[in-house]
Amino acid sequence: MARRKKKALDLAAIEVLPRHVAIIMDGNGRWARQRGLPRVAGHRAGAENLRRIINACVEFGVQILTIYAFSTENWDRPESEISGLMKIFTRALDQELDELHDQGVCLHHLGDLNGIDPTLQDKVRRGIEKTKDNNRLILNVAFNYGGRAEILHAVQQILADGIAPEMLTEELFSSYLFTCGLPDPDLVIRTSGELRISNFLIWQAAYAELFATPTYWPDFGREELYDALLEYSHRERRFGALPEST
Ligand code: IPE
Ligand code: IPE
Ligand code: MG
Repeated sequence: MARRKKKALDLAAIEVLPRHVAIIMDGNGRWARQRGLPRVAGHRAGAENLRRIINACVEFGVQILTIYAFSTENWDRPESEISGLMKIFTRALDQELDELHDQGVCLHHLGDLNGIDPTLQDKVRRGIEKTKDNNRLILNVAFNYGGRAEILHAVQQILADGIAPEMLTEELFSSYLFTCGLPDPDLVIRTSGELRISNFLIWQAAYAELFATPTYWPDFGREELYDALLEYSHRERRFGALPEST
């Protein structure tokens, strides 16, 4: 099949590019249902779409992409869906790791690796090790991730390290999160029309700009990502202060 030609996009029009984009990749199930397919087919289409969005982030010059792949609450789904998702993650790592590496993608994991299948744990660890010196795009995969669990984990580590209360600053606290050393997300995108944060980066996204679209994740393509970046570049971020023109 002939590959559809990529539409030319005016990248110079994006005056302020977000350094860190985070995406709640939602709507796989409804995408499948709309087509009379099982939910897992939606997850498969979602994984394929992730490939396209990673390519687009590299093309557009985004430095950090964080994706919400599996939440601590997603364990409440039926066993068959969970095992389907785990297979998709495993296969995606098997099939894509070399290409991601060649592209200069540095893989990070946010969340708790314990509690997932040891084979998959091992693949994730090897992927992180293999790509650790790459610097074109940092790809944070939030997998078995929850914002509350992350904060709780940080507090436990801080207590275990014997940090005195008066020593604890926002900066030090941030260094105990899975995103240690990375800037906060500038833009959080949620697909599928839901308007909630669903336990995603609840500390780090305190001042992120939000972009919500009704598009289901498997259909959220390069051009819509471009639209989100363009919209971001027109936002005025005030961080609680007054606009510059005041
Ligand atoms: C997002 O799609 C993928 C995961 C949560 C793993 P959903 O599976 O939540 O799709 P909907 O929201 O049911 O359509
Ligand atoms: C958020 O989507 C989690 C991921 C995209 C991995 P959900 O579909 O799990 O969120 P809720 O349940 O609609 O809030
Ligand atoms: Mg959902």
